[in-house]
Amino acid sequence: MKTYATSKDINSHIGTLRNEGKTIGFVPTMGALHKGHLSLVELCKKDCDITVVSIFVNPTQFNDKGDLQRYPHMPETDSKLLEEAGCGILFLPGEQEIYPKPDTRVFDFGQLDKVMEGVHRPGHFNGVAQVVSRLFNIITPDKAFFGLKDFQQLAIIREMVKQLQFRVEIIAVPIVRDTDGLALSSRNMLLNEAQRKMAPLIAKTLFEAQKKAAKLSVSVVKQWVIDTVNRSSELSVEYFDIVDSLSLQPVQSWDDAGQIFGCIAVRVGNIRLIDNVRLS
Ligand code: PAJ
Repeated sequence: MKTYATSKDINSHIGTLRNEGKTIGFVPTMGALHKGHLSLVELCKKDCDITVVSIFVNPTQFNDKGDLQRYPHMPETDSKLLEEAGCGILFLPGEQEIYPKPDTRVFDFGQLDKVMEGVHRPGHFNGVAQVVSRLFNIITPDKAFFGLKDFQQLAIIREMVKQLQFRVEIIAVPIVRDTDGLALSSRNMLLNEAQRKMAPLIAKTLFEAQKKAAKLSVSVVKQWVIDTVNRSSELSVEYFDIVDSLSLQPVQSWDDAGQIFGCIAVRVGNIRLIDNVRLS
């Protein structure tokens, strides 16, 4: 695996590979890698000749400075994991490299960021679009891989690709879960023992909701999920929305959209966890 810290060096290496006719696959991450990230790498390796992974904890997407400070950093462990996973190229840029000057671009995502994470993390998706567009310009991938765990992020990335006319195919990858159902997340390692024990209730409730969706109305399922998760002393629901998978707008009935997802954000102490399931 080759590791680069500068845009110029990685861009010129990728240029050479492209001239040799190689297809370039890209997996952007913020590190503290787990099996969820590695499933993206696996799929990328299957689909593309060259797998590029970036690790960059992007300050512009953190609306909560405490969250940024707490975010785990472990580049050596990550690098080893990627090497073992068969990643070809690792991009580990510093902040100066990505933002030589402040990025003042403001994106307009219409209604897509006026719900869920967009409401509770103001500016978050603007920061995601800033960094991912910068990375796409540097890496120039043919395909880029994103996890369905961040359901709204995927919709935002697809919209950004359309608006900025990137010639990249966006591939969505299923959520990888721990044996107890908890969706893998770099933030899970910040949970204490009691919190970690209760956190699987989030996924368990979402899977129960999948069964209830066949029999009960949208509003009843929604309230049941919120009440069930909130019953745990460690968990507090920030939002649970039942939405059209494309527009991300809330639906009133199970007939309102082709695919309907339930998306949840839960506060566990000062840690925020998100998850989602398809409900219809
Ligand atoms: P990060 O949270 O590190 O996630 C990197 C990628 O891994 C994202 O596409 C995310 O959806 C995916 N992922 C995380 N947990 C997963 C799981 N349990 N199963 C499947 N995929 C999972 O998302 C970001 O970083 C950043 O916002 C980024 C896109 C890198 C921009 O800074």
